[in-house]
Order: sequence, then structure tokens, then C-alpha cells
Amino acid sequence: MIVEHLLGEGMNIKTIAVIGAGQMGNGIAQVASSAGFQVVLIDMNDALLEKAMATIQFSLGKLVSKEKISQSEADDSIARISTGTDRSLCQNADLVVEAIPEVLEWKLDLFKELDSICPDHTILATNTSSISITKIAGATRRPDRVIGMHFMNPVPLMKLVEIINGEETSAETNATIVQAAESMGKVPLTSEDFPGFISNRILCPMLNEAIFCLQEGVATREAIDGIMKLGMNHPMGPLALADYIGLDTVLHIMDVLYDGFGDSKYRAAPLLRRMVDAGLLGKKTGRGFYTYN
Ligand code: 3HC
Repeated sequence: MIVEHLLGEGMNIKTIAVIGAGQMGNGIAQVASSAGFQVVLIDMNDALLEKAMATIQFSLGKLVSKEKISQSEADDSIARISTGTDRSLCQNADLVVEAIPEVLEWKLDLFKELDSICPDHTILATNTSSISITKIAGATRRPDRVIGMHFMNPVPLMKLVEIINGEETSAETNATIVQAAESMGKVPLTSEDFPGFISNRILCPMLNEAIFCLQEGVATREAIDGIMKLGMNHPMGPLALADYIGLDTVLHIMDVLYDGFGDSKYRAAPLLRRMVDAGLLGKKTGRGFYTYN
């Protein structure tokens, strides 16, 4: 079943290409296909794509077992996703969502390539957590059709999509992406393009402060996390959340904030930098502030 989404004043989106099949990319592919979009998921090799499809199967299975969706809806979602390693598959997409690692040069090269592959109407969105949308848009000849579409981890469960307008993002592009996010069952909220946008400008300094507290011996990791969980009703404590996000990502965002604002209040905790240097990146490497199986 192909569903054409008629998006108010925005354009019609039928096919979404997601580039990068990691933790964020596979979640984005899942919520897009569950919303009825045709999805093509692209990464560098078949092993990565197989792993991503297994993750999507597992996540949909969880939602079926919790009776949030039916088995046939899960089957339809899977059927709407195709995979491939060739970026030219984006030539049929109305929207491309990039979810590759946070390396500026890689993103600039990719957006330049996408600009030459994709038809004029295609919107190029980035799931970047901290790189300037305006800078990424500058690699293309369509800066009015480049936008930030920042999903939260874990994508299938989190309601927010932070939409970020670059300097030249058009109102039509914003309207189209707001409505696409809504049709995925998300709540889109728009930020302008300043370092860290809203989510990470506020979240990451809090995580960083928790790491300073641990470094200074103010409290144990259990006490720091317990105080913030029980006292502020946060679902996870800040150290557990930093592990969950990835300590390399948190450090990268702190460095972007520090460089972007030139304000010492954004300096990364030395303990955070030391753990990243040691390869203790959190859940994904099995060790961070906590140990994982
Ligand atoms: N798909 C489907 N189900 C999933 C899932 C997924 N991707 N991930 C977890 N679940 C399931 C779990 O398997 C679990 O199922 P079970 O009850 O059958 O075992 C269920 O959801 C609930 O999970 P848990 O019992 O493990 O724990 P919680 O109830 O605490 O929920 C959580 C987990 C939603 C991750 C919650 O702890 C939470 O909201 N944590 C904070 C997450 C957060 O802050 N995210 C934002 C990070 S910042 C970001 O993404 C921006 C970036 O730029 C840095």
C-alpha cells in the first residue's frame, strides 16, 4: 500500500530516503514507514543494513507485544522499507533524512552529492544534533530546501522532533517537515539555527555538570542519578543518560557549544574528555559511567 501524504500548504511526500542505518537512522526509517511513507534506507554495506532491519523488526515486535500496533501493521511497515548501498537511490525521494556520524566534512560532501542526485523539489533534512544547518545548506544550491529534523533517541518512543530552520530555509519547507513529522505521530517544535539548537544547548550542560559533580567527588554516580531521577522526575539520571546518548556525542556537543558561544560555561568536564580518550563511550562500547552487557 502506498500512502501519499497531502501536506497542507507544503508539498506531497511519498518517498523518504534515510541515509545512515545506525541507531538514529533505523529508528527514523521505522517511524516513517509506520506512518505509511515508502522508505529507502541507505548505508555503506549490507551487514549494516541487515543489522538495522533486525533492530526495526525487534522494535516493531515490542510494539506489537504491547498492543500499540497490530502484527499486520508491523508487517506492512517492514514491507514499505527497501534497503541499498547506492546513494543514487535518493533520486526518487521527496525527502532525504541524513543520519550519518557527526563529522562536518562527511556531511558537506554528502549534501553536495545529494544536491546533484535529487530532483529540484526534494527536501534535504539532517538529523544532526549540533552542526549548523546553515553551514550544511551552504554545500548545496538549494539552501531553502535544507532543514534540521532532529529526532530523539530512542526514536520510536520519543515524541519530539526538533525542527531547525537554517538561515535560508523557506516557510514552505518548514511547513512540509512539520506536517511530515506530525504524520509520523511526533510533536514537531521549531528552533532557529544557533549552537546546540534548544534541546542540546540545555540538556548537555546539565549532563556535563553531573560529570563535574562526579569528578569533584560531590556524590556517587548512584546518588547523582538518583537525585535527578527522583527529585526532578527525569526518566533517567544524567550519567545514565550520557552513557545512553554516547559520551563522544556529549563531548562533541559541548565542544560545539564552547566554540559557538565562546563562553567558558560550556567547557567540557575533563573527566568526560578523559573517558572519551579511553574509549569508554557508554552503552555502545559496554562501559561508560556504568557497565553494560
Ligand atoms: N522500540 C520499541 N520499544 C523500545 C525501544 C524501541 N526503540 N526502546 C525501548 N523500548 C521498550 C523497552 O524494551 C521496554 O520494553 P519492556 O517493558 O518490554 O522491557 C520499554 O520500551 C520501556 O523501556 P524501559 O522499561 O527500559 O525503561 P523506561 O520506561 O524508562 O523507558 C526510555 C525507556 C524511553 C528510554 C526512558 O528511560 C527515557 O525516556 N529516557 C530518556 C531518553 C531521553 O532523554 N532521550 C533523549 C536523548 S537526547 C537526544 O536524543 C538528542 C541527541 O542529539 C543527543
